[in-house]
Amino acid sequence: MKKLDHIAIAVPDLAVAVAQYRTALGVTISAPQELPEHGVRIVFVKLQNATIELMEPFGDSSPIASFLERNPAGGIHHFCLGDPEFETTLTQVKDSGARALGEPKIGAHGNPVMFLHPKDFQGTLIELEKVSE
Ligand code: CO
Repeated sequence: MKKLDHIAIAVPDLAVAVAQYRTALGVTISAPQELPEHGVRIVFVKLQNATIELMEPFGDSSPIASFLERNPAGGIHHFCLGDPEFETTLTQVKDSGARALGEPKIGAHGNPVMFLHPKDFQGTLIELEKVSE
């Protein structure tokens, strides 16, 4: 069965966001991690049943830069489904006529990930991540 893996929130300043989440919400937050291939620097906010990722642009051509231009205060950017049947689901997505964005890449957890076009999914960017059962 698929599971909610994480919700990713684009923020204009990661250090400010981390301080606020820690102070105001009292949550546990990982050390920052730079993902040059994805153009983001991220932290994980660990919750009991899911993870929230806070991410800021990293490098010159970050894919979240234009999102932050439209949403300067930050906002929910995508959610991620952990999927043990990753390849099957990708085939279903394509057969349904929906678009995947590019080719699978290795994501923040070391697993293949694929993004699905928000215009084909009710205006929401969905990340599919290959996970074991
Ligand atoms: Co993600």
